[in-house]
Amino acid sequence: MLFSPSIKNLNDLFLHQLKDIYYAEKKIVKTLPDLADKATDSNLKNGFQTHLTETKDQISKLERAFDILGEKAEGEKCDAIEGILKEGDHLVKDCEEGATRDSALIAAAQKVEHYEIATYGALCHMANLLGQTEVADILHSILEQEKLTDEKLTSMSTSVEKMAVKKAA
Ligand SMILES: [Fe+2]
Ligand SMILES: [Fe+2]
Repeated sequence: MLFSPSIKNLNDLFLHQLKDIYYAEKKIVKTLPDLADKATDSNLKNGFQTHLTETKDQISKLERAFDILGEKAEGEKCDAIEGILKEGDHLVKDCEEGATRDSALIAAAQKVEHYEIATYGALCHMANLLGQTEVADILHSILEQEKLTDEKLTSMSTSVEKMAVKKAA
């Protein structure tokens, strides 16, 4: 065969996905201050700031996971997060400031959280199958943080979107 695939087994696949989410988290860290800046609702603003702190911590946790695996912590370009963030940015730019823009910020942020939940869910599963229980525990703690963030965004969306509806009426 002229071209030999670089991902040959579950271990390679796991490492590839770990590098993908490491890249994604680093992008998210750069984006969250902008989301906090654009949020009008104080709960939403605080929520983005809290998740910024959590995301920085998640990056450290991922570095610890690489360390346990005896691998260098490095990112692999994640096209999905680039696309999700770019689309969110365009959407938010098109919105009028206030409740409508806050609603768009929540919608865009939830797409990020769902991508993270899907990735960490798969990574946890693979880490367990590979017998990397310590790494699986680390990934599971991040997964729970992402799920909680998603739930917080859902609960905030109700009040924020009601305000946006009123604006339209
Ligand atoms: Fe994250
Ligand atoms: Fe997140």
